[in-house]
Amino acid sequence: MKELLNTFETYLEKNLPLSKSFHPHFETALGEMLLAGGKRFRPMLLLCVVDSKNSLLVKSSLNVALGLEMLHTYSLIHDDLPVMDNADLRRGFQTLHKKYDDVTAVLVGDALNTEAFKLIADAPLSADVRIELVATLANDGGINGMIIGQAIDCYFENKVLSLEQLEFLHQHKTAKLIASSLRMGAIIANYSKEVQDTLYNFGLDIGLLFQIQDDIIDETQSSEEAGKTTQNDACKNSFVNLLGLEGSVKAANTLAEKCEDTLLSLDSSLQNALKSLLEVYLYRHNKFTKNS
Ligand code: IPE
Ligand code: IPE
Ligand code: MG
Ligand code: MG
Ligand code: MG
Repeated sequence: MKELLNTFETYLEKNLPLSKSFHPHFETALGEMLLAGGKRFRPMLLLCVVDSKNSLLVKSSLNVALGLEMLHTYSLIHDDLPVMDNADLRRGFQTLHKKYDDVTAVLVGDALNTEAFKLIADAPLSADVRIELVATLANDGGINGMIIGQAIDCYFENKVLSLEQLEFLHQHKTAKLIASSLRMGAIIANYSKEVQDTLYNFGLDIGLLFQIQDDIIDETQSSEEAGKTTQNDACKNSFVNLLGLEGSVKAANTLAEKCEDTLLSLDSSLQNALKSLLEVYLYRHNKFTKNS
């Protein structure tokens, strides 16, 4: 897993988006949030699935993994804007709108969104596979995925949602892109539709768990610890606001156990490929809540 992550990081550093012009900082700003780090959870899910079937395909998948990380990074840059969550810190650095201005942050986000699809279109994979990848990412990252989730998240600030609506919100805003990461890996690796669907549904659970944990981070960690602005969810429909901290930890544990069971039901090569990555995430909320 470490090796895959290193391969990805090196690829990212060497393939930053370029935009040559006389603009004083646009090209630098384009790469800054990508270089700032982050856990690389989504590209790693994709690469682990590919690696489980055929390690020789990893190299041809790097463009797609980077495209996925670009789309996710765009969503974070826009999420931090004053009109959305108004956050000053991301991945341990000043957010782009703080460092430069809103225009730069909006346009860097726009650029990473389009670049994501360009990278997939240019990947050394068959045309059929590339089209399926584009459609999958557009679906889960778009208006019936991350975007509608973000729209609901912001529209319903200070308006309490039901638990069912809360799940819809978080499934769309976060879980679908995580599920998509697994599906995209499975598409590249040519896993059957049945395995693709199993992985996608598994990803929806992991993604929901990931967001419950993220809401716990907002409540329990300092901005310095988290590397991003925290204590920022007061008017949000976060799991912590709806279920309380204890209730959220309980919900996270239940979901983590379900995910563990699903992981153990996968065929052994997929299980082995995903185990060390998921081990880091399934119960991480217990670490955040230990000292609180
Ligand atoms: C943060 O995503 C936003 C959510 C969807 C919860 P990550 O926690 O994956 O952020 P990075 O990529 O590590 O910065
Ligand atoms: C954002 O969720 C999810 C995205 C689609 C970007 P949050 O607003 O909770 O993410 P953080 O806490 O700012 O990283
Ligand atoms: Mg948000
Ligand atoms: Mg936010
Ligand atoms: Mg959050």
